[in-house]
Amino acid sequence: MCGIFGYIGHRNASSLLVKGLLRLEYRGYDSSGVVVKNGQLQSYKDIGKISEMATSLPEFKGSMGIAHTRWATHGGVTKENAHPHLSNDGKVAIVHNGILQNSDALRKRLKRAGVQLNSETDSEVFCHYIAMALEEGKAPLEALQSVLSMTRGTWGVCVLFQEYDYVLCARNGSPLIIGRGKDEMFISSDPHAIREHTDQLVALEDGQIAKLDAHNFQVMQTDGKEVVSHLLQLEEEWGESELGEYPHFMLKEIHEQSQSLQHCISGRLRHAEGTSVLGGLQVQPQELAQLPHVRLIGCGTALHAAQIGQILIEQWARIPAVSHVASEFNANDPVINPKALHLAISQSGETADTLSAVKEIQRKGADVYGVVNVVGSSIARQCGKGVYIHSGPEQSVASTKAFTNMVGALALFALQLGRSRHLSKTKGKSIIREMRTLPEKIRAYLEQPGPIEQAVELVTKAKSVLFLGRGISSPVASEGALKLMEIAYIPCLAYPAGEMKHGPIALIEQDSPVVVIAPNDGVQERTLNAIHECKARGAKIILIHEEGDPISETADVSIPIPSTMPMLTPLLSVLPTQLIAYHAALALDNDVDRPRNLAKSVTVE
Ligand code: M6R
Repeated sequence: MCGIFGYIGHRNASSLLVKGLLRLEYRGYDSSGVVVKNGQLQSYKDIGKISEMATSLPEFKGSMGIAHTRWATHGGVTKENAHPHLSNDGKVAIVHNGILQNSDALRKRLKRAGVQLNSETDSEVFCHYIAMALEEGKAPLEALQSVLSMTRGTWGVCVLFQEYDYVLCARNGSPLIIGRGKDEMFISSDPHAIREHTDQLVALEDGQIAKLDAHNFQVMQTDGKEVVSHLLQLEEEWGESELGEYPHFMLKEIHEQSQSLQHCISGRLRHAEGTSVLGGLQVQPQELAQLPHVRLIGCGTALHAAQIGQILIEQWARIPAVSHVASEFNANDPVINPKALHLAISQSGETADTLSAVKEIQRKGADVYGVVNVVGSSIARQCGKGVYIHSGPEQSVASTKAFTNMVGALALFALQLGRSRHLSKTKGKSIIREMRTLPEKIRAYLEQPGPIEQAVELVTKAKSVLFLGRGISSPVASEGALKLMEIAYIPCLAYPAGEMKHGPIALIEQDSPVVVIAPNDGVQERTLNAIHECKARGAKIILIHEEGDPISETADVSIPIPSTMPMLTPLLSVLPTQLIAYHAALALDNDVDRPRNLAKSVTVE
């Protein structure tokens, strides 16, 4: 949520800032702006896409600046509310990511002091209080410290001064990464926007401030006490951040799933022993013997992957497992068993709700393993252990290949757990054999995806769409519904197939589209009952089923997927739901990669 980029060096800052913002655009894209120091602070901002702001950006000279792409929290989407914000004397500029909880009180105090406020944002208070402190004779660092001592909330904030040749930044709950180049420094909300310039990265921790000029940076606690910061060890990730031949990142990422799953499983399967090895997720035999349960936590797509992981762990390892909505986790003072295994699942590794659940679990004495995509992200660092899912950069707001790799990594983990308990070597080997075939099956399906256009025609005409699945297909139904809602803006409801008759059936009218995920998995027969109940009321069934399965006769639109073992079907059955969402959004003329109101990383609770 909101992206920050900064540059201090010898090159033209303005163009580097725009490039950095474009890499961070998925964090928020309702408005953007830059400020560059060249004697004066020269600032420009606008609503709309970064590319639009960039075309009208004046040619600022100067080699030091900060920039921002916004996802609105306080105050509507207007030019005034876009960042950067400047003090009224033009001497201080700030960009901020996060939410200030006491901004109303702080704004009132400024008004009483006669300061003119120029936006409706919480963020603006930073620049005015800093300017006032400078006016009182405080040094810039002291000025920032004094403001931070009066604010409550979260911030990743950068400050540029007209009269000083350095940038100050501070972090509390919103990520900031510093990159050191040759006689130049970078600041970014995400490591991947800096990686093309340098691999010398340092992540600020909560409660830290940094002072940067072109040659050096100094990290300290908010009270000014210097801290030793460690370079982030980032493994090289596969994948391109550019669109290439694809019209949208979402389509590119859908088609990358065969390759990304391959990256997730390769080197981790041990066929001879019928098991898998996940370096960062090894449970010692003694821990295993006492393991009471596994808890999996995530939001949105990561939650659906967690729900699938829960079923895989119970099925293969016979250990009680439960998944939780991260944003609800702390609400009820959860009881934490320090002997239990906790997994935090996140693509970005920055989701505030998930991060806060991780901290709550750790505060109550248990360890948490991260199952994360972005290397060096906040959740990965906070957990300190876990596995990377190796999806490569995922830029579309609608998550696709990360889902596949979360499920892939959780399947590997469930297999490993199962093999250290009662799962036989023969069963382990058959799981491995099947997992190895999946990248090719994904590729083959995407080459011939079936009558997606027919499904799109039904869903785009509908008032709402019902998604049904049973057992391991129930979270896939939820994932399909989430995808269609977030990019096509069609109201969707996902329900376990058997639960439909307890309420949602009332929604069905003549021609209502119902997407049913019904692989041949042992519970299919009961899903068939739900199909007949819907059909009897006039519904049109869009059926995702295994190829050659006679259940296809019940479909109005039959979408066959390759066959696999029941527990691995989500890795294939999710694909048509992604394509339906993508093509529905296109048909409705929506911005597929930048759906309204959303952001890729949700860094506010
Ligand atoms: O980065 P995370 O995996 O933690 O993100 C969690 C959700 O915000 C995310 O999955 C969201 O629901 C996606 N837009 C779904 O496509």
